[in-house]
Amino acid sequence: MGAIFTSPGRTVIAGIVLLIIIVVVVGLATGQMTHLDMAWSTFAMRWLHVISGVLWIGLLWYLNFVQVPTMPTIQPVESRVAITKFIAPNVLFYFRYGALATVITGLLLAWMQGYIVQALTLQKGFIMIGVGMWMALIMAFNVWFIIWPNQQKILGLVEATAEQKAAAAKPALYASRFNTMFSIGMLYCMVAQQNMPI
Ligand code: HEM
Repeated sequence: MGAIFTSPGRTVIAGIVLLIIIVVVVGLATGQMTHLDMAWSTFAMRWLHVISGVLWIGLLWYLNFVQVPTMPTIQPVESRVAITKFIAPNVLFYFRYGALATVITGLLLAWMQGYIVQALTLQKGFIMIGVGMWMALIMAFNVWFIIWPNQQKILGLVEATAEQKAAAAKPALYASRFNTMFSIGMLYCMVAQQNMPI
């Protein structure tokens, strides 16, 4: 067990092995082995999409509910550097690539289901998922073009004067809070398409 749990990489591999065992055992028990057809590929894309979305939104909520509110209470002040120098850059790496993976898998999912245009143009029958997709696209834009460039200045990952650092704090915080606000309705729209009787 120690060999697995002391490495995040090996832990993920163990999770994938466990998933394969579940699929095979359930397949054998029900006599329904999964066929590698288009329906299965769409299902697998849905799974990848939800996993990427959990990575992204999980870190968004971590930043908003844990890291940002706790930061001012950390004493002595000098120890806050552990967050800004080591933890935050790592969080932002998974955060922004989680957002990118969610956008790619989400758009592929809509395309594989044959309604990407109808959803993005908010046509009848696809309004709810279309609204969710637009909300999530705006959120991803915020991540890559507002939060990340400003955080790079705040965390000292790019050259910035003291004034530029101070000016970066507000847009970074507000865009992150905006995304947290949007995440609630966005997730409702995501799960509504297949599961809400219309
Ligand atoms: C630009 C970004 C996104 C796009 C283009 C997108 C697109 C989609 C599409 C097309 C579906 C399938 C709807 C259906 O027919 O059932 C879906 C479902 C879903 N999405 Fe997204 N999505 C995005 C962001 C997110 C985010 C950030 C999350 C956060 C976790 C998320 C979570 C989900 C969930 C949970 C489902 C429902 C799966 C199910 O009901 O089986 N999506 N998304």
